[in-house]
Amino acid sequence: MTYSEVYEGWKSDPEGFWMDAAEAIDWDKKPSKALFGENAPMYEWFSDGMVNTCWNAVDRHVENGRGDQVAIIYDSPITGTRKSISYVMLRNRVAQLAGALRAKGVEKGDRVIIYMPMIPEALEAMLACARLGAIHSVVFGGFAAHELAVRIDDAKPKCIIAASCGIEPGRIVHYKPLLDGALEQSTHQPDFCVIFQREYEVAHLEEGRDYNWHGFQYGVEPAECVPVEGNHPAYILYTSGTTGQPKGVVRPTGGHLVALNWTMKNLYNVDPGDVFWAASDVGWVVGHSYICYAPLISGNTTIVFEGKPIGTPDAGTFWRIISEHKVKSFFTAPTAFRAIKREDPKGEFVKKYDLSCLKALYLAGERADPDTIHWAQDQLGVPVIDHWWQTETGWAIAGNPLGIEELPVKVGSPSVPMPGYDVHILDEGGHEVGPNTLGAIAIKLPLPPGTLPTLWNAEDRFHKSYLNHFPGYYETGDAGYKDEDGYLYIMARTDDVINVAGHRLSTGAMEEVLASHPDVAECAVIGVSDDLKGQLPMGFLCLTTGVDRDHAEVVKECVSLVRDQIGPVAAFKLACVVDRLPKTRSGKILRGTMVKIADGEEFKMPATIDDPAILDEIAEALKGLGYPKAG
Ligand code: COA
Ligand code: AMP
Repeated sequence: MTYSEVYEGWKSDPEGFWMDAAEAIDWDKKPSKALFGENAPMYEWFSDGMVNTCWNAVDRHVENGRGDQVAIIYDSPITGTRKSISYVMLRNRVAQLAGALRAKGVEKGDRVIIYMPMIPEALEAMLACARLGAIHSVVFGGFAAHELAVRIDDAKPKCIIAASCGIEPGRIVHYKPLLDGALEQSTHQPDFCVIFQREYEVAHLEEGRDYNWHGFQYGVEPAECVPVEGNHPAYILYTSGTTGQPKGVVRPTGGHLVALNWTMKNLYNVDPGDVFWAASDVGWVVGHSYICYAPLISGNTTIVFEGKPIGTPDAGTFWRIISEHKVKSFFTAPTAFRAIKREDPKGEFVKKYDLSCLKALYLAGERADPDTIHWAQDQLGVPVIDHWWQTETGWAIAGNPLGIEELPVKVGSPSVPMPGYDVHILDEGGHEVGPNTLGAIAIKLPLPPGTLPTLWNAEDRFHKSYLNHFPGYYETGDAGYKDEDGYLYIMARTDDVINVAGHRLSTGAMEEVLASHPDVAECAVIGVSDDLKGQLPMGFLCLTTGVDRDHAEVVKECVSLVRDQIGPVAAFKLACVVDRLPKTRSGKILRGTMVKIADGEEFKMPATIDDPAILDEIAEALKGLGYPKAG
């Protein structure tokens, strides 16, 4: 079948399409139908089925004779560790951990926060929750204590599972002290915490609250898989929105299983037994879907990589791993390739390894710039597939489905919509625009299985953020266009979200932190273009009248405030003090115009600007920061 036939097949019979895809999943009770539209526009999938994610990701492979196959390869160049875990070992470890959690009172529907680096125990913790029907929420290690506290107060976990530390180049990330700091800030307190003690830093455990990962599992009965309803939340993953309050994306169990399993063959073109590697982090959606769940659900071997594309120890790490573990399909963010290309432009490291096992490279998380795609194509000699998705969708909205048909690659485009996604480009009034015309990208409801049905504890915000602007559609927050062949081009965000090294961050959240500095009266944060990370945040600070301090001092304090409150991942290092911010007559800060000046792009003077002279002051301040960059 061609892509067009598959896509049209879905369009003409979505119910049949998804019920067919659901056949690949082991159900305790089969769903009577796929779509549940009774509460439209809040759609659900497979709601009356009963199923368990851990069974499908682990146990069934053992039952079906794959017990000795490697499920997880842990490769950690940063600590010099490598190990393999077979499916049967994984089943035993997860069942034991789940049993210990259950013995301490964790049950179906309870929330569990997981705060761990890239170690196999992070996946085991996720799967143990899934085994019990507990709802996990993984928090990325690059976030600071405050961000963890915000998530604890929103998810209200019964238990928190953490590691004693993570390891970044040149420094230890003190997870346990960060967790203790978060618990001092949060109103909600968990019943207990489980700490995985790493040899690199052994954390202090608080009597009566904290349990050692190994000790607390001793002597308990392993737990069996608990069947849950198809619409039961598998997990909550917080992502950046417009404000400092992150959005808790809810992932429903049944649709998640069906959709992820479908993607492994059709999009990533791997079969059970093949090695699949997503070089991301379990704290992000890519890590949830393609380090943990999808490869395991489809019976692949997945790789947990603790390291960086460069510096651990060199720009050849990715190629070493691909060659050594026989990776067939590889997925990472364009930033990682830009970092490698910068260190090794001629691909000297690539030549050192036999990469004949690799059949395709997939890029996502941010716009894949043509230079990076061409470099990757030249170096690797395999199809380089850009694909576009979001935390909210959990899997690709658009891509090039190599397992169905290899469509011609158009550099700069993540190709075409996947079955399940009816993608439209709309103008402000919600009318469809023609080919090659920029507009808001919206998806006709219902969204396919696996996508978010709502936000955790925030149904109103779900409607406001995604559904209200274009009734009948999901608003992606991305702007772009379609060409005459139906290929999509993703150009920019329509909100205050920026993308720094493939990490989604909210400028609004950074502004909230800066505004809390006692000397800052007003501020704006914008995302400026960066050759390596795609975008970098930059802050403009107006000081409170009467404050007569050294500007460099205030900037320094603001930089550490963002690092302390949001975390190092915000990469907030650029800021300056200005007298005034450019605004419209109605008081809206002209962030878009500031971005254009910083990037050295042509811009039209906004007709509604209050005082055009302020733009000259901004340009002067930008010069002080070295912007626009030469070339
Ligand atoms: N725990 C704690 N801190 C973390 C962290 C983690 N898991 N991940 C990143 N950080 C820290 C980094 O140490 C860095 O701190 P620093 O300011 O003290 O140097 C800061 O957060 C910014 O990190 P990052 O943006 O990743 O930059 P970097 O300079 O460390 O590395 C790249 C640059 C390009 C090599 C790196 O960004 C990279 O590998 N990107 C891939 C992106 C990716 O996988 N995205 C996932 C979405 S698909
Ligand atoms: P996240 O929720 O962290 O996965 O970030 C999702 C956002 O990243 C999208 O809304 C886009 O703005 C951006 N993004 C992800 N993948 C791509 C891509 N392939 N091309 C362009 N932008 C992308």
